[in-house]
Amino acid sequence: MNIIDGKKVSARVKAEVKAEAESLKAKGISIGLAVVIVGDNPASRVYVNNKKKACAEVGFDSFEYALPAETTQDELLALVDKLNSDAKVDGILVQLPLPSHIDKNAVINAISPEKDVDAFHPQNVGHIMIGDYAFLPCTPAGVMELIAETGIEVSGKKCVVIGRSNIVGKPMAMLLLHKNGTVTITHSRTRDLPSVTSEADILVAAVGKAGFVTADMIKPGAVVIDVGMNRNAEGKLCGDVDFEGCKEKAGYITPVPGGVGPMTIAMLMRNTLTAAKMHNGCQD
Ligand code: GUN
Repeated sequence: MNIIDGKKVSARVKAEVKAEAESLKAKGISIGLAVVIVGDNPASRVYVNNKKKACAEVGFDSFEYALPAETTQDELLALVDKLNSDAKVDGILVQLPLPSHIDKNAVINAISPEKDVDAFHPQNVGHIMIGDYAFLPCTPAGVMELIAETGIEVSGKKCVVIGRSNIVGKPMAMLLLHKNGTVTITHSRTRDLPSVTSEADILVAAVGKAGFVTADMIKPGAVVIDVGMNRNAEGKLCGDVDFEGCKEKAGYITPVPGGVGPMTIAMLMRNTLTAAKMHNGCQD
């Protein structure tokens, strides 16, 4: 059993981003990320704080817009519009979920694709689909870095993704496919899920249910990546994988916390750097 250390890999990615940000700064170019949060979802609050902290670490400016839960869709769209034309803002991130009276897709569609550092805009999703993209889908890209860390080639491997969300499951499958994995996407209607997952050389769990993946569901020696971020009955942060039960059987496994979470933020920093380079005409 090998534990993949997401904190270590994310520190390396952030150090690379920081070095590039410093050389841009020397040319008079500063980099800014706007983070918008609506309402007071406690998990969202933690994520937004972590994103701001990461900006400070790599030398970016961050601009937080914390709006009350009653904010109307029109008010939010007006803010997005303002940020789209603000030269100090290279990236715009609207933290999800949004309150139910706001149409999430209307907001995502309003973000300028050149500032869409989440890569959620349909134009950027299309770029990911055809494999020609500037912005990485943050969480799936972070997972790919963690898989690379194991030294195991994706090419030809059986890869199973549990979950089909637009944020993780679907783009995750695309990135594995771009690396020539043989990819299966499973979901709540999949019949006999354990028979599918136990064939996987690489298993990515993005279900949203604590301890969902148990040892009987994994292949001996598999790479097991846990995207889950759940609270158990005691309020403790835990993933979708029963870590204690699976750690001896898996070849490589990511912990929660300290696995995928830090990688998502590191990839967001990389995307914001990419956006700044594009906006300043210094894309290499
Ligand atoms: N909520 C959960 N994950 C994410 C993410 O990656 N980006 C945004 N904007 N909201 C999220």
